[in-house]
Parts: sequence; C-alpha cells; structure tokens
Amino acid sequence: MGIEAWYMDSSEEDQRKPHKLSPPRPVSPEQLQALGVFHWKLNADIYETDPELEQIRKSRGYSYMDIITIHKDKLPNYEDKLKMFYEEHLHLDDEIRYILEGRAYFDIRDREDRWIRIAMTTGDLITLPAGIYHRFTLDETNYAKAMRLFVGEPVWKSYNRPADDFQIRQQYVASLQGS
Ligand code: LAC
Ligand code: NI
Repeated sequence: MGIEAWYMDSSEEDQRKPHKLSPPRPVSPEQLQALGVFHWKLNADIYETDPELEQIRKSRGYSYMDIITIHKDKLPNYEDKLKMFYEEHLHLDDEIRYILEGRAYFDIRDREDRWIRIAMTTGDLITLPAGIYHRFTLDETNYAKAMRLFVGEPVWKSYNRPADDFQIRQQYVASLQGS
C-alpha cells in the first residue's frame, strides 16, 4: 500500500495544515524511493508481537527501539521540542519512525530543494536516509505516538541546515546522481 505525499505550498500558515498546492501535486512511493525514502504499512494494533515488524528489524539491524508520545501533556518541553523538530536538519544516521497511534508529517527536500510533505498515519513505518534534509510536525490533531528505531546505540543529534560539509551529506547527494 502506498503512502500519501505531495509538494508543499510556500504559505506561512500554520505548519500543522496540509499545505497542498492547488491543484495538488502528489508524489508517488517510487519518487520517494528515488530520494532514498522507504515505507512499510504494518498493523500497529499488534506491534508488540508483529512478525512483520520483527522481520524488518532483523533484516535491517534495527536493534534499538523506544516509544515517544508527542502530546502537550505527555512530552516534556513539548513546545520547544516541536519547534526543534520543525527546523530543517539532517542526521549522520538513518531516521526510522513507526507511527503507533495518531498522525504526523515528515517533510523532505527533493533534488531541486523543494519540500515534499509525507502524511504518516497509524501503521506507517518510514526510513529517511542519513544526510537528507528534513523536518517533522504534528498535524491539526496534535497527537502521535511513535516507535523510534535505530541500528545499534541511538544517536539523536541533529544538524540544522546548512550542514553541507558533512561527508554523509555529500554521500547522500552523490547517491541521487543518475537515479
Ligand atoms: C527527529 C525528527 C523530528 O529528528 O526528524 O527526531
Ligand atoms: Ni530528524
């Protein structure tokens, strides 16, 4: 099953709104894959015992996991964290998120530096490649519970743009050539 994604408008309206162009310009799973973004749809009701999740974790080496609840009464420093999550940034490792409850948006840059918005709903697992510029926001429902996965000991450090000097950034950009 596909995931819904689209090119964003450039309005300064609330980040939690969809920000679709009119007419909308959808982005296909294949276009996301060409940018190094992969998606699975899982059954979040059974995440604690799901063999499909187990298989993904095993084959990709996602040994670490924790669960984060993003809600104003649940997450310490909620406002600051949401502000930080929406700053354009990259990481030196893949970012892997699985939405267990609620919904949220991941925004990523395409080759021409345009924003693509990816709509994550319950059951969506996504991987963003190391070195891709991205950001995160809740939508207007203001609630998401997500599993964070990682290969080995987690490193949550973000580097806000500009972060073009990192080798991982240059590797990522090079990986897009010809794809
Ligand atoms: C993160 C998301 C917010 O880095 O991109 O956790
Ligand atoms: Ni990130």
